[in-house]
Amino acid sequence: MSTGPRVLRIDPTSPEAPIIQEAAAVLSRGGLVAFPTETVYGLGARALDAEHVARIFEAKGRPSTHPLILHVDGEAMARTVASTWPARASALARAFWPGPLTLVVPRADVVPDAVTGGLATVAVRMPAHPVALALVRAVGAPLAAPSANAHTHVSPTTAAHVARSLGDRVELVLDAGPCEHGIESTVIDVTCDPPRVLRPGATSLEALRAVVPDAVYEESTAAEGAARASPGLAAKHYAPRARLVLVDGANVAGAADELARAGARVAAVVWSDATDAAVASAKARAVVAVSRTLGPGAEAYARDLFAALFDVDEAGCDVVLVERVPEEPAWWAVQDRLRRAARPD
Ligand code: TXA
Ligand code: MG
Repeated sequence: MSTGPRVLRIDPTSPEAPIIQEAAAVLSRGGLVAFPTETVYGLGARALDAEHVARIFEAKGRPSTHPLILHVDGEAMARTVASTWPARASALARAFWPGPLTLVVPRADVVPDAVTGGLATVAVRMPAHPVALALVRAVGAPLAAPSANAHTHVSPTTAAHVARSLGDRVELVLDAGPCEHGIESTVIDVTCDPPRVLRPGATSLEALRAVVPDAVYEESTAAEGAARASPGLAAKHYAPRARLVLVDGANVAGAADELARAGARVAAVVWSDATDAAVASAKARAVVAVSRTLGPGAEAYARDLFAALFDVDEAGCDVVLVERVPEEPAWWAVQDRLRRAARPD
C-alpha cells in the first residue's frame, strides 16, 4: 500500500528559501520532485543527468521515445541546451517568457538522449511560476519536467492530484495551490520555416501570430502528422478512468438517461446554461451522479477541466458525458485535450 509522497506547502508568490533548498537537495541525489508551474504540476529531475531523467519515465510509465520539456530560468540557460538559437526563438522568448510557451530548437550535445528520445531537437521553456523558477535557480541547471501524472492520464492542477496519480513514485511534492492556467504550454517548433505549432496550449494562436505571423497550426498536423515530429501527441491522452464521451449540449440529458438505465454511474461536464439546466434536472432524478459546469469562457473552462475529470474519477463514475465546446480558435487547447481524452484505448 502506497503511503503517498511527502507534501510540503510553499508560498506561491514568495517561496520559502529553506523549502526550495530541500527540494533542490532531493533533486541533486536523483529524487523526483513535483512542483507547480503556471500551467500544470510538473514531475522534475535534473535534465542533464540521464540516470535521473530515466526515473521520470519509470515513475510515469511513459514510453522512452516521448521527449520531455526542459525548464530554464531564462534565455541564457536555454541557449546552453541548444546547438543553435534561431532568431525566431529569441523573438518568441522575448515576447512570451516567462510563460506557457515551449520552443523546440536544435539540441546541444549536453542533452542526454533520454530527454529527447533520440530526436535532433529539444523542447525548452521558462515557466512563470515563482516556485518553478526558484527551483531551477537553486539547482542552477535545467529541470526536465513532464506533467506529473501517470502516462495517458489527466494532468494534475493541484498537489492532491499529483499524489493521487503518482503515489509514492514521487518523493516530494511542493504544494502551492491550484495552477493558474490548468492546461499545458503551447509547443512550437522553430526549427522549420514557417514555425509549426505541435501542441495547442495556454498561449493562444492569436498571441503567437502577433509575433510570428506565419506560424502554422493544423489540427490534423497536431493530431496525426506530429506523431512523428512530436512523439506522444497522437496517442490517447489526458484521459480519466471513466470513459469520456463528447456529446452535443442538446443530447447530454438523453444520453445520461440511456446510460443510467443500462446501469452506468454517469457524470456530466457542461459549459452552456441550457445544458446546465437539463443536467440539473437529470441530477434531481438521480440520473447524473456528478456534474460540473465550467467556463463560461475558454480560459476559465481550461483552468478547471482537469480538476473536474479528477473529481469524476474520485466519485467512481463509469462514463463522463462532456458537452462539445465551441469550434472557435479561443478553444483550441480545450478541443485538443477533449479529442484525445475521448479516443478509444
Ligand atoms: O505546460 C507544460 O508544458 C507542462 C509543465 C509541467 O511545464 N509540461 C508538459 O510536459 O506538458 P509533457 O511531457 O507532458 O509534454 C511534453 C510535450 C509533448 O507533447 C512532447 O511530444 C513535446 O512536448 N516535445 C518535447 N520535446 C519535443 C521535441 N524535441 N520535439 C517535438 N516535441 C517535443
Ligand atoms: Mg503530459
